[in-house]
Amino acid sequence: MKHFISLHDITHEEFSQLLSLADKLKKEQKSGKEHHILKGKTLGMIFTKSSTRTRVSFEVGMYQLGGQALFLSSNDIQLGRGETIYDTANVLSRFLDGIMIRTFDHQDVLDLAKYGTIPIINGLTDLLHPCQALADLMTIQEHKGQLRGLKLAYIGDGNNVAHSLMYACAKAGMDISIGTPAGYECDKEIVANAVEDAKSMGSKVVLTNDPVEAIKDADVVYTDTWASMGQEAEKAERAEIFKDYQVNSKLFGYSKPDSVFMHCLPAYRGYEVTEDVIDSGRSIIFDEAENRLHAQKAVMAMLMVGDNK
Ligand code: CP
Ligand code: NVA
Repeated sequence: MKHFISLHDITHEEFSQLLSLADKLKKEQKSGKEHHILKGKTLGMIFTKSSTRTRVSFEVGMYQLGGQALFLSSNDIQLGRGETIYDTANVLSRFLDGIMIRTFDHQDVLDLAKYGTIPIINGLTDLLHPCQALADLMTIQEHKGQLRGLKLAYIGDGNNVAHSLMYACAKAGMDISIGTPAGYECDKEIVANAVEDAKSMGSKVVLTNDPVEAIKDADVVYTDTWASMGQEAEKAERAEIFKDYQVNSKLFGYSKPDSVFMHCLPAYRGYEVTEDVIDSGRSIIFDEAENRLHAQKAVMAMLMVGDNK
């Protein structure tokens, strides 16, 4: 594993290793054991979009691993004034040991990896959010004691989070069922890749425009905002189009009686989910948010221990 850009690029074994390492690092951190395996290393964190969880969890994670993180807002670095990805990748590779980037265009992340010489971590693009999906499956494993054979239902927009969940479920042998409005389905190429991965693990990928069909008998119910970063102007229009896809107690009632509710956050209560679901005892959103820290520490450990240059 040289980079962490898409879960489709990593093997089923690497995915399992990441989950085991995340679990180990979490236990060690909780028991007060320090693990300074990235002592002397620096992670650059480029953000061209907002963030609470990704920024804080990477910064704290790097500190806990004995290294340091640099917050590089695109407003402050020359990339935001038109310096090329090529030059940025080459220059930053001379200073840093790894880069985490959150941006719009997925191609920019691929180019950073192509032109630089250090590991690149995708902290969200318009296409994918792999760190989120890794933390999500870690959380499901903790709550359900297994991954293989479970059904995750994702209800709402066929976006970056849905795409990475499809890849993650396929790597773990979990069934995934995605319910989106017509015209807001997942990217066809991502679906084809996920179906191929799922086949090798004996699991299913189901796509439907019927939210009830999608959620039926699910072990895990997941939703995300209807208007992602960059789609703010479409918020009102989307609220109307997506209204039958709101995860409220009626829709949630079609899932298994012991199903759990998940959301990558930030959540918009009253839109994609109602308060009685997201704030209920079956909601595991804060365990999910915490696990971003532990899962990403595992990613950094796998990519940045030793000399990766
Ligand atoms: N879930 C997530 O990535 O949150 P932030 O946008 O706050 O980083
Ligand atoms: N789909 C959302 C996820 C935020 C963490 C977005 O891209 O804005």
